[in-house]
Amino acid sequence: MLKLAPSILAADFKILGQQVVDVAEAGAQYIHLDVMDGAFVPSISFGMPVIGSLRSCTDRIFDVHMMVEEPGRYINDMKEAGADLICVHAEACTHLDRTMNQIKEAGLKAGVALNPATSLSVLDQILPELDMVLIMSVNPGFGGQKFIPYTLEKVRALRRICIERHLETDIQVDGGVTCDNVRELIEAGANVFVAGSAVFKGNAAANTKAFLKIFEEY
Ligand code: DX5
Ligand code: ZN
Repeated sequence: MLKLAPSILAADFKILGQQVVDVAEAGAQYIHLDVMDGAFVPSISFGMPVIGSLRSCTDRIFDVHMMVEEPGRYINDMKEAGADLICVHAEACTHLDRTMNQIKEAGLKAGVALNPATSLSVLDQILPELDMVLIMSVNPGFGGQKFIPYTLEKVRALRRICIERHLETDIQVDGGVTCDNVRELIEAGANVFVAGSAVFKGNAAANTKAFLKIFEEY
């Protein structure tokens, strides 16, 4: 099933709760929460207090994308705040296997995110343990960037590997996703789509519905 994960990074923070309700009621299956620490990526966004406060707005899946050095330090705090799924960057974890286990032991779904230039080969051993792989299609740190075209082939290659290994791993794409390029990404094998600007710039509910309508074609 194809799923939309609106990234609240592009939302209007003065009415954040309402924006989350709007996209959830319009049918978005996930709420994508971009946590940035000012070290792994240049920006600082928000953390547990904001996620905890939004938790009462919706029961949609809280998909936490941790752009944080050594995110293992915060797994339990994120669970308490209301995370359902946590993706950590392979580049940010010295002991990726340990961090994955921490997420799973907390009872949450676990994913690994890869920067555009990071090879899929870092997943060779751990892939069967993952619920999701997040393919970054921009360099993490900011919303509103342009999709990097070579990441499309990376999605294709990952889907091929999953099929060969009989894995039903979710493949999420994040960065520069729009209604204009989402079909190509679906055809490449991705099934979870993060969209920040393309959802929250303008009418968030209408933009959410536009993505979901495209999903119905498949
Ligand atoms: C980038 C974040 C993305 C970002 C996507 O570091 O991980 O989730 O919010 O925003 P758009 O869709 O505007 O590229
Ligand atoms: Zn993200």
